Amino acid sequence: MEKVTVNASRTYDILIGEHLLDTAGERIRAAAGGGAALVVTDDTVDRLYGEKLVSSLRRSGYRVEKFVIPPGEASKNTENFLGILNFLAEKHFTRSDVVAALGGGVVGDLAGFAAACFHRGMTFVQLPTTLLAAVDSSVGGKTAVDLPAGKNLIGAFYQPALVICDIRTLDTLSEEIFRDGCAEVIKYAIIADRELFMDLKQPVRPQLEKIITRCVSIKRDIVARDEFDTGVRQLLNFGHTVGHAVEACSDFAVSHGSGVAIGMAAESRAAAQRGFCDALCLNEIVSLLRLYGFSLDCPYSAEALCEKALSDKKRRGDAITLVVPREIGQAELLTVPVGELLSFFRSGR
Ligand code: NAD
Ligand code: GLY
Repeated sequence: MEKVTVNASRTYDILIGEHLLDTAGERIRAAAGGGAALVVTDDTVDRLYGEKLVSSLRRSGYRVEKFVIPPGEASKNTENFLGILNFLAEKHFTRSDVVAALGGGVVGDLAGFAAACFHRGMTFVQLPTTLLAAVDSSVGGKTAVDLPAGKNLIGAFYQPALVICDIRTLDTLSEEIFRDGCAEVIKYAIIADRELFMDLKQPVRPQLEKIITRCVSIKRDIVARDEFDTGVRQLLNFGHTVGHAVEACSDFAVSHGSGVAIGMAAESRAAAQRGFCDALCLNEIVSLLRLYGFSLDCPYSAEALCEKALSDKKRRGDAITLVVPREIGQAELLTVPVGELLSFFRSGR
């Protein structure tokens, strides 16, 4: 088992290893205490792993309740958010009790935001079961739900008390969902870790513990410097300005990972054209993305993408911050006036 410790407004451990769900109860008791635990999960994950977590929590003396949502982004809504809050109140939960998010980023973001709000903040633990959640959403304290007007429009920074990543749970992910997570792993390699980039030329599954540990260590370092996303944390948005625009243009038919892959290729092309990185770096990025089977052709015009990007919450006033790779393992922030975004997008196509 690997352990990575995050030092943010709260200090907490991320545990990464095999079969950790079996002992999750005692680990949560040691890190978080409390008398009752609410497991928030989705139907798919509940069928696969719900009972294992509930039994482990009960063995450790918790009174356990469960709140199960349908799988998918549509569940990350205000109705489920209020549903969890009302359920916590009806079942007499207190601040020192625990909300345990078992699932992907949808469950983690929703449960985390509810935990942040109930009694102005109750104990929260993350048990990520997708690769994306393991390397990204379970760490760093961003929680949110969607509004009809857009994704993640309400939320809070609220750090968990513990993250337990049982890598065996990732065995049951479909190839498509696993690959979505690989796009985020590739992102970490490009912005911060050349050695990881080289490791990604070999299959990911046999190296999961090492790769997840490396990714969360990178995120830990970034979050320690900029928990509230006003500076270096924006490096984690590499590929996401174009990627989110592609997802939005497709009405979310293009998956997040595929959008981010198109975005990383486009943002790298634009960066190379402006001399931030050389053609070799661009080639390496594009080749690795292709190795994972990502199609990098963008079916939308620069104008359509630009319009979506300008309504994204990454925009601050009249400026937008982009991420440009310098070389494999190093990237920097580039803040441009919104008027220059279209030309950036045009050169990325
Ligand atoms: P998800 O939570 O919807 O999970 C994807 C699918 O995988 C779901 O159908 C789920 O039921 C299924 N699944 C989960 N674990 C499984 C397992 N072990 N075996 C089989 N099936 C399993 O999607 P996601 O990609 O994990 O997360 C996406 C969400 O994360 C988005 O809402 C995004 O906004 C959010 N996000 C948040 C952050 C953050 O920092 N908080 C970062 C990135 C993304
Ligand atoms: N997923 C980007 C961040 O946590 O900042």
